[in-house]
Amino acid sequence: MQDFRPRDSWTSRIGVILAVTGSAVGLGNFLRFPGLAAKYGGGAFMVAYLCAFLLLGLPIAFAEWSMGRYGGRHGFNSSPGIYRLVWKSRIAPYFGILAMIVPVCIYMYYVYIEAWCLAYSARYLFGRMDFGADPSGYERFFAQFVGIHAHGESLSTPGEGLLGSAVFFLILCFVLNFTLIYRGLSKGIEWFCRWAMPALVVCGLLVLIRVLTLGTPDPAKPDQNILNGLGYMWNPVKPGTTFWQELANAEMWMAAAGQIFFSLSVGFGIIITYASYVKKDDDIALSCLTACAGNEFCEVALGGLITVPAAFVFLGPQVVQNPPGTFGLGFMALPHVFSQMPLGNVVGFLFFFLLFLSAVTSSLSMLQPAVAFLEEGLGLHRKASVALLGFITALGSTGVVFFSKDLLALDTLDFWIGTFCLYALAAFQTILFGWVLGAKSGMAELRRGAEIHIPESLRYVIQYVTPVYLFVVFGFWLRQNIFAAGAEGQPNRLRQLVTDPVAAAVMIFVAAVAVLFGLFIAQAVRNWRRAEAAAEEVAI
Ligand code: ALA
Repeated sequence: MQDFRPRDSWTSRIGVILAVTGSAVGLGNFLRFPGLAAKYGGGAFMVAYLCAFLLLGLPIAFAEWSMGRYGGRHGFNSSPGIYRLVWKSRIAPYFGILAMIVPVCIYMYYVYIEAWCLAYSARYLFGRMDFGADPSGYERFFAQFVGIHAHGESLSTPGEGLLGSAVFFLILCFVLNFTLIYRGLSKGIEWFCRWAMPALVVCGLLVLIRVLTLGTPDPAKPDQNILNGLGYMWNPVKPGTTFWQELANAEMWMAAAGQIFFSLSVGFGIIITYASYVKKDDDIALSCLTACAGNEFCEVALGGLITVPAAFVFLGPQVVQNPPGTFGLGFMALPHVFSQMPLGNVVGFLFFFLLFLSAVTSSLSMLQPAVAFLEEGLGLHRKASVALLGFITALGSTGVVFFSKDLLALDTLDFWIGTFCLYALAAFQTILFGWVLGAKSGMAELRRGAEIHIPESLRYVIQYVTPVYLFVVFGFWLRQNIFAAGAEGQPNRLRQLVTDPVAAAVMIFVAAVAVLFGLFIAQAVRNWRRAEAAAEEVAI
């Protein structure tokens, strides 16, 4: 084992809590969660969501924090190093390939959506977001801006200059992310999260106040008032169904579990790396709970109360239920809503700026695991590791931008990496903690330095309930999404890889990145072995 010589560390406990909360709070909280809650019926969805939070998200987050601090104490900050430390097997570090490609490949498309948020907030600032009272104006702008109709169309929006160029904003986001990552853990990530997190909560509260005081904007439509908007989101039962019927929807349980993983950033390989930089007796149990609670506040109290009620009040339940496309609610319906609202330009700016800040704190966290590994495993300096990662992610993001028709490249990555690989990595880490390290030793690690009481029952949850729950949900998800026939005559996701050249190209690129990280890990293992042999010789 190596001596523990930290290369970088958090400067304070609040710093690491803000960084982990920043990683969790992101586009998932403000765009994905409201859409799912509205789709599946607030109350029933919240039951599934709460179960997934308590039985999947929280236990796996505890596991990642514990394994991370354990790894850090033994000199490892990267997932491959920590997996090898916990599981003394030759193949253990190679599971780190998953822990590298998940955050790195999610970054490739996440940063693009981050760029849209920055662009929209800038456009509000310059008064360039008013496309009239007709919703089609907003739909047309978004489609043109991201190039939904043809590959490569997103590279320019006629007559809009730089404010209409998604690529320009993407470059700005890349520069910001990589500058912060280059500055390091405390001077880059922690520094940014320290001001961005409070700032985004302030923006969120201001937007929330505006939304909750909307009343009944159109007297001709008295039902479209804010109370009904909140009721639409949160009432346990939708008209025409019963609570139990809604609860019996297996797809909803899968969506809730997927949302919990994505939202808490568990199964990303991020928390394990962030936690490896804490001090050896820091109270990780409390830090983990605080970060999860912070995420839930932003998701349920801010995300859940803003987007859907605002859209309901101005556009009615039909639009909320069937928004135009995946990003319809956030990037088409809401700008239309803001255009009809008093102070709409200010609210629009605050909303998209808050989305942008939350996205940056998340995208930064997707880069740190690979940077930590390249430095620790290959001995690269910060400049070289950041440059190498910058090159790989820039290639991937270029593909996402270029293959813009129907956002196919983005969608393919989101499906295979942002959902499938997320489940797979979460499953691996659950087994690693509960069965390889052993839930008993894992709990002892979690309890060290903890001032709060950790109930013994958590041990059984982590060892039995979480893996069973996870495998059942994952199994259903695989059956429905990978092996079943696609919807409305479409090929299913596996066949799509054969029939659609773009989807195939995207996954060939992902496979190449995976092979590259596999080779890097093989080299890292050789380096670690050599260092361990040298340390043993000195000890003799
Ligand atoms: N956890 C981050 C989000 O919710 C990735 O967007």
